[in-house]
Amino acid sequence: MIKKAILPVAGLGTRFLPASKSIPKEMVTVVDRPAIEYVVKEAVAAGIEQIILVTHSSKASIENYFDRNFELETTLELKKKFDLLAEISDIIPSHVSVVSVRQPQPLGLGHAVLCAKDIVGDDDFAVLLPDVLVKASNTQHNDLAKMIQRFNQSQAAQIMVEAVADDLVDQYGIVDVTTAPREGESVLMRGIIEKPALGTAPSNLSVVGRYILPAEIMQLLAQTPKGAGNEIQLTDAIALLQNAQPVEAYRMQGQTFDCGSKLGYLKAVLHYGVEHPKLGAEFKELIQELKL
Ligand code: G1P
Repeated sequence: MIKKAILPVAGLGTRFLPASKSIPKEMVTVVDRPAIEYVVKEAVAAGIEQIILVTHSSKASIENYFDRNFELETTLELKKKFDLLAEISDIIPSHVSVVSVRQPQPLGLGHAVLCAKDIVGDDDFAVLLPDVLVKASNTQHNDLAKMIQRFNQSQAAQIMVEAVADDLVDQYGIVDVTTAPREGESVLMRGIIEKPALGTAPSNLSVVGRYILPAEIMQLLAQTPKGAGNEIQLTDAIALLQNAQPVEAYRMQGQTFDCGSKLGYLKAVLHYGVEHPKLGAEFKELIQELKL
């Protein structure tokens, strides 16, 4: 059973400057809550019970957000603001815990995941990259839940992918498959490469930033040499894992928003904004006004 999820949040967010100069990029709000809340909720909806933040000293506000705030709760209670009280107390259900570990040096995504080795122990786990928001196409089964289901059946690691334009392949991990899977399906992967040069990519199926991985990958990460960008890459450890056991590419059904980029962020605000239960209708009217 996959109950633990690693969220690497130590990155400094240079793509999101100036906002990320003094606010963690994960705390920038998408409509009325920080981006990281959407990612944590996605994990919780897929059955995750422990969120492991791999974090940095400048990012304590993320841990604070998922902690209780006794002073604020008491004040809201005294003022009888029970709706707001419920909203800040129910961010994550009580059976879910959030723990954190530091990534002492920025040595890459693979290194960040390895920092959670002692917390993960012998358990298989999920990894969710917080820059990318994944919006479910229906509320019953999110893509991560489907990947976990498939992992439980096949025991093969699952890497979530989506098609990207050919001129963008050098910005992502790219998988090599004999036939592209249909949306919602997994196929055996032949290979995976981090940020291939244009014209050399084995496909246009890019790694989205959602992974279901066996505990054994931690040993491989410890041996993975520096790769693209002179960083220890999770992609390279997955390529090593493939030598020992099957790894599958899962093609997502939902929609992604890259909140690490400014335009991706604005797109996320639009999409989540128009669907917001309280603000959506008026937000749509505001967008109509802009069109005039
Ligand atoms: C990371 C991964 C890459 C993946 C991407 C998704 O890259 O290394 O394989 O495709 O996230 O956003 P980064 O964006 O951190 O450079």
